[in-house]
Amino acid sequence: MASEIVMLITELRNRQRITLPSAKGAYSFGRSPHCDYILRRNHIGDRQFTLHSRGENWVVTDDASGCTTWYNNHPLAGGESHLLQPGDVIGINTDEDLSTQEITFRVEEIRHEDGDGAPHRETTADAILRELDVRKKRRIVIGRGDDCDVKLNSDRVSRHHCEVLFRDGHYELRDLGSTNGTYLDGQRVREAVLQNGAVINVPTQVFAFSGGVLHYHENAAGISVELVNVVKTVQDRNTNAPLNIVDGTSLIIDPNSFVVLVGGSGTGKSSLLTCITGSAPCTGGSVRFDGIDTKGNRNAFDAVLGYVPQKDIMHDNLTLEQSLTFAAKLRIAHDATPAETRAAVEHAIRAVDLQGREKTLIRQLSGGQKKRVSIAMELLASPRLLVLDEPTSGLSPDLDRSMMELCRKLSHENCTVLMVTHNMSNINLCDKIAFLGTGGVLCYYGPPEELDRYFDVELTSDIFEKLRRPEDIEYYRTKYFTTREFNRVVEEYPEAAQEADKRCNQSSQ
Ligand SMILES: Nc1ncnc2c1ncn2[C@@H]1O[C@H](COP(=O)(O)OP(=O)(O)OP(=O)(O)O)[C@@H](O)[C@H]1O
Ligand SMILES: [Mg+2]
Repeated sequence: MASEIVMLITELRNRQRITLPSAKGAYSFGRSPHCDYILRRNHIGDRQFTLHSRGENWVVTDDASGCTTWYNNHPLAGGESHLLQPGDVIGINTDEDLSTQEITFRVEEIRHEDGDGAPHRETTADAILRELDVRKKRRIVIGRGDDCDVKLNSDRVSRHHCEVLFRDGHYELRDLGSTNGTYLDGQRVREAVLQNGAVINVPTQVFAFSGGVLHYHENAAGISVELVNVVKTVQDRNTNAPLNIVDGTSLIIDPNSFVVLVGGSGTGKSSLLTCITGSAPCTGGSVRFDGIDTKGNRNAFDAVLGYVPQKDIMHDNLTLEQSLTFAAKLRIAHDATPAETRAAVEHAIRAVDLQGREKTLIRQLSGGQKKRVSIAMELLASPRLLVLDEPTSGLSPDLDRSMMELCRKLSHENCTVLMVTHNMSNINLCDKIAFLGTGGVLCYYGPPEELDRYFDVELTSDIFEKLRRPEDIEYYRTKYFTTREFNRVVEEYPEAAQEADKRCNQSSQ
């Protein structure tokens, strides 16, 4: 079926719109004079990427030039292809700053004729196209901070990176003193007037501005987890009386964040984890994924969940590649071709940094490497939430660090990561810590930097000692209710305040 793709190309201050008809089949982009579209800039391959028309669809393929082609802020591997949808942005870096794309190609429209001659629009599948109306909000702040209108989970983005303003009848872009810069149509700017059709670039994100609206692709890889008054009551083995082993936990885990759950032995970490994974659901309150109550929707969510239990379940006498291929057959779509299965296995091996060990028998791998294999198995199914129960227990300190680094990397690239650990040495690598006290009581939830001050201790390890005393546990339980993190829950789920009010009244009596 005939179609055409309309692309807006932004290169420095130049912008041009091109319309490519499908009749030609393919269009190459790169430095070589033989390309259909020639880009005479540094750090661009002779052939950088190609657009192919496939029936009514359009596909971008990286031509493995050694220079990165970005697709909606994800670097394409050499030879990797992606189906294009309206709103998608292909980008190229032309200087050393790898996270800024100076030349962008935005798909404005894919026009094709249905049988009845009516054009139809594509919908995006793996990334959500977001729109923010600047005219309505008047000020939109972009950054890494929790209070931003567009929150970007990347170390390269400043807490308050830049803002877009609507005032006196025009639109402005202002950099808020960011470290890595705000780019408008390829030029670093401090302050600039935004014209219709402008392309704004900050590390890890491209925005297109038109008609007073910012359009961008939200990385929808990770899901958010919302816990509202989560309780797990069991019958006490000794007294037969009801006993809460998770006691009214409310918190929000942001998408693509890395959260670590800590607490002394028996404080209910595994129990809280099983409330989230659904293997032993909560008895009160709600566990939500992306705001949707998981109760009654479990099956829908099983597919997005990866769970790495403490004990590795693997066939020791298979090679890494064989064991992942077997797992892939169970985990990825049944209609996957052998090439797709191979690609999924290669991708999972790369994600956990085990390249070069494909032919090694599992039993010959070290403890830390085996743990990585368990994680790779889960990654085959592209989970959007990865839950790990003490993956570093029994590992040497350097392996603990590399596991934490791996989790951090996965959270920024693929999914939200929640991990239980006993080891506090590398907690600065996580985005947030949830600290439990005896009895399944959440005593702290927030960034690792604020932990010691919150508990008024010099050594982080002293917190464990503190949270064994019932009066301290109650003190910190109610202190949590005064924090920003808890207030975020209440803003979205007012019922979380009831539990807090009840506790605070009890403790004041
Ligand atoms: N039926 C029950 N009766 C009494 N106590 C129970 C019952 N079921 C669980 N518990 C207690 O609940 C608490 C929470 O257990 P959980 O396994 O979640 O703790 P944990 O923080 O994961 O501990 P660890 O760090 O040792 O793995 C434990 O103290 C456990 O003994
Ligand atoms: Mg446990």
